[in-house]
Amino acid sequence: MDKITQVQDEALAAIAAAADPEELQQVRIRYLGKKGMIQALMAEMKSLPKEEKPAFGQKVNVCKQTVTEELEKRQEELNAGALVQKMEKEKIDITLPGDSISIGTMHPLMMIQQEIEDLFIGMGYKVAEGPEVEQDYYNFELANIPKDHPAREMQDTFYIDPNTLLRTHTTAMQMRELEKAKGQTPIKLICPGKVYRRDDDDATHSHQFMQSEGLVVGEHITLADLKGTLEFMANRMFGEGRQIRFRPSFFPFTEPSVEVDVSCPFCNGKGCSVCKGSGWIEILGAGMVHPHVLEMNGFDPEKCSGFAFGIGLERIAMLKYGIDDIRNFYINDQRFLKNFDRFD
Ligand code: PHE
Repeated sequence: MDKITQVQDEALAAIAAAADPEELQQVRIRYLGKKGMIQALMAEMKSLPKEEKPAFGQKVNVCKQTVTEELEKRQEELNAGALVQKMEKEKIDITLPGDSISIGTMHPLMMIQQEIEDLFIGMGYKVAEGPEVEQDYYNFELANIPKDHPAREMQDTFYIDPNTLLRTHTTAMQMRELEKAKGQTPIKLICPGKVYRRDDDDATHSHQFMQSEGLVVGEHITLADLKGTLEFMANRMFGEGRQIRFRPSFFPFTEPSVEVDVSCPFCNGKGCSVCKGSGWIEILGAGMVHPHVLEMNGFDPEKCSGFAFGIGLERIAMLKYGIDDIRNFYINDQRFLKNFDRFD
């Protein structure tokens, strides 16, 4: 009987001393488990004289119950303590500033593209789209650049097969749109997109670059319309007071063809390092749509005429943002791109 009291006292002391739920579990196993001390007391009952058995059994039962109850109480205490501890450990200071989420920035070329699109949409132009993997037919043939035409050498091309290539200019999109129009005028389009040429990349050359091409076909469209349109664009993009000038040039799909310069926005035409002292900066190629191009696409060059121009977006972005290496647009260095973050 004393042994029972002793076991019970020990058990209660161990329960009280258990510091965490794991320790308490060990105590539970030690006293209440199948091979535990209380079970061992039960086993001892067999060797007792018959008359002592009931009192002994009853005392062991009381002991078992007491220990079980104390265990449960302590378990609850420890659980509550563990919760408090856990909450303490995982406490969040909601007054601390949060981690800022880094969101993407508009790419400078996209900014220029959108600026051009907005400007021309405002004048009633539609934005056309076309494939970058293009057929020779639209890129060259319909643009008055037949096979073996020397002009094809001007644009060293990435061919996929003899009839498929990466478009070398957005003029390919114009040809698709002209063909689609089936001789119906007016047409007023802006065609932005990536183009590809076999160039060795350096500070001013990239095998991939972006163009935005404009096309207007209708009755009585003249070189003066082209000039007025481009002057308007130059003023909007480079600031009021810009002048433009035409220099004769050659493109197989336009006649006459011109290179277009804008008066230098950095020195106002006086001459500086950007315009190399000339006061003028070349910004694009343009011309009147070649009558043969109109004809090939089902238009009557006696009844309608048109102008076209093609702008290199990198060049415009480099001028506007003072970027001196075209490769910056394509290596995606965050330090460069972050300069264009609208939220910084
Ligand atoms: N396609 C010409 C180029 O890539 C640009 C251009 C477009 C010129 C339209 C005249 C008219 O250089």
